[in-house]
Amino acid sequence: MALRYCGALALVAGLLLIFATVSSSESQKSRNHMETLRIPPRFSQKESTEMKEALKGAIQIPTVSFSRNKSNTTALAEFGKYIRKVFPRLFNTTFIQHEVVGEYSHLFTIQGADRSLQPYMLLAHFDVVPAPEEGWEVPPFSGLERDGFIHGRGTLDNKNSVMAILQALQLLLTRNYIPQRSFFIALGHDEEVSGLNGAQKIATLLQARGVQLAFIVDEGSFVLDGFLPSLKTPFAMVSVSEKGALDLMLHVNMTPGHSSAPPKETSIGILAAALSRLEQTPMPNLFGRGILKMTLQQLANEFPFPHNIFLNNLWLFQPLVSRFLERNPITNAMIRTTTAITKFHAGIKENVIPSVAQAVVNFRIHHAQTVQEVFEFVKNTVADDRVQLQVLRAFEPLPLSPYDDQSLGYQLLSQTIRSIFPEVNIVTPGICIGNTDSRHYTNLTTSIYRFNPVRLQPQGFSSIHGLNEKISVQDYETQVKFIFELIQNADSYKKLARHLHDL
Ligand SMILES: *[C@@H]1O[C@H](CO)[C@@H](O)[C@H](O)[C@H]1NC(C)=O
Ligand SMILES: *[C@@H]1O[C@H](CO)[C@@H](O)[C@H](O)[C@H]1NC(C)=O
Ligand SMILES: *[C@@H]1O[C@H](CO)[C@@H](O)[C@H](O)[C@H]1NC(C)=O
Ligand SMILES: *[C@@H]1O[C@H](CO)[C@@H](O)[C@H](O)[C@H]1NC(C)=O
Repeated sequence: MALRYCGALALVAGLLLIFATVSSSESQKSRNHMETLRIPPRFSQKESTEMKEALKGAIQIPTVSFSRNKSNTTALAEFGKYIRKVFPRLFNTTFIQHEVVGEYSHLFTIQGADRSLQPYMLLAHFDVVPAPEEGWEVPPFSGLERDGFIHGRGTLDNKNSVMAILQALQLLLTRNYIPQRSFFIALGHDEEVSGLNGAQKIATLLQARGVQLAFIVDEGSFVLDGFLPSLKTPFAMVSVSEKGALDLMLHVNMTPGHSSAPPKETSIGILAAALSRLEQTPMPNLFGRGILKMTLQQLANEFPFPHNIFLNNLWLFQPLVSRFLERNPITNAMIRTTTAITKFHAGIKENVIPSVAQAVVNFRIHHAQTVQEVFEFVKNTVADDRVQLQVLRAFEPLPLSPYDDQSLGYQLLSQTIRSIFPEVNIVTPGICIGNTDSRHYTNLTTSIYRFNPVRLQPQGFSSIHGLNEKISVQDYETQVKFIFELIQNADSYKKLARHLHDL
């Protein structure tokens, strides 16, 4: 117990020491450099008004992805015209190249002045999930401002990022900023339904051009506020991986017959029993074999007694904490592969026993498991040869991106979070339980970070894909500031990185 505690203290002390050393010598060494190049993240009243109006306009274009092969292509095309109108500078600056990929997605290449620095990429998507009007306080595509909030589908997922990235770059350009490090901005149009026409095509194009990226920042996690009831202060979670997925079709085919003389078992009964076994047999709890354990250890001292004791001594309390995590659907999703029955089809008539019954089960794979392991688990649990299994779609969990003190992307995010969100004490790596466009970019970099620089409360979390999605005007401006700072930090970080290396 004591050993653990000392270990953690030493680690924290060590980090503090490194941070202090770096920041003091860094500021001395490059004071001149910083003073001449650094542009403070301050916007005029007029600019603040323009940026929120620009977001409202973006929300009003109903760029809905209905299904894999159905989206509002009129709106997707209109969005392309809209960004040209609102951000003219991004289209007439000599060192910025703009391309449309996969008909509607956008790729900007910003050529930095220092070709020796490895480029990075900012990712976002402007398609949204459908939003029927019922239940909304204001129409979902109105972009109305009310009580300091801009309302509408896409205000958090993810037009806020699309607009904030473009806005921040335009604001830097109007201040004659010359980026040092090259970067890409990729804006997908079909993230909500796979990213196969947008993100994947952009990734393929860049791969063909031989591009390798220092890191990617995409949507995914947030500055989380009030998610853990006993935590007083918000903390920032930067997701360093996301879960894999397996969509399995279960299929039972029996002889059809008349319901007046039924057989002992029907296709529906057999399939239902198999599904029930799957639901009753959750995949193993993998707490301890993932990032979450480290996340909780980092947060340990933010918790009041007795949680701080439990989390600081997981060598003893791991079973207890692990059971506790199973009780909440979100934390449960972080510690195991989840099993969700999403489709069931059978039957045509009241008095006919159908031959075929089919169901689809969606598994989200924990990063300590593989698609193959999950498939084997299902086969053994169903344990009935009459139930055929067919893989509809599968991909492995995403590899873990590095988050040590040599990881440029992670350190840049961490540094920028600390300056823009001073109320945040802890920046911690985490796992994204959903999927993002960034998974198409694994050939271009091993450093993919999913972080949306917005302070999010649980209510906001449920509005994503739900009702009354909204962002406060203040939070949106903060997001623009974040990107404005991130771009500048990426340019001035080279010395810091070198210095860290020397330590
Ligand atoms: C679109 O997808 C649906 C279901 O995924 C399918 O029924 C339909 O045939 C598809 N349409 C086209 C034009 O591919
Ligand atoms: C598609 O978007 C256009 C605007 O670009 C809008 O007028 C139209 O109503 C939308 N269609 C649907 C089905 O949402
Ligand atoms: C680019 O567009 C901005 C904004 O419309 C304008 O002020 C600027 O003069 C343009 N620059 C060039 C080189 O055309
Ligand atoms: C990575 O590159 C390989 C070889 O070109 C290709 O087969 C694969 O599909 C790529 N992966 C992704 C995620 O694009």
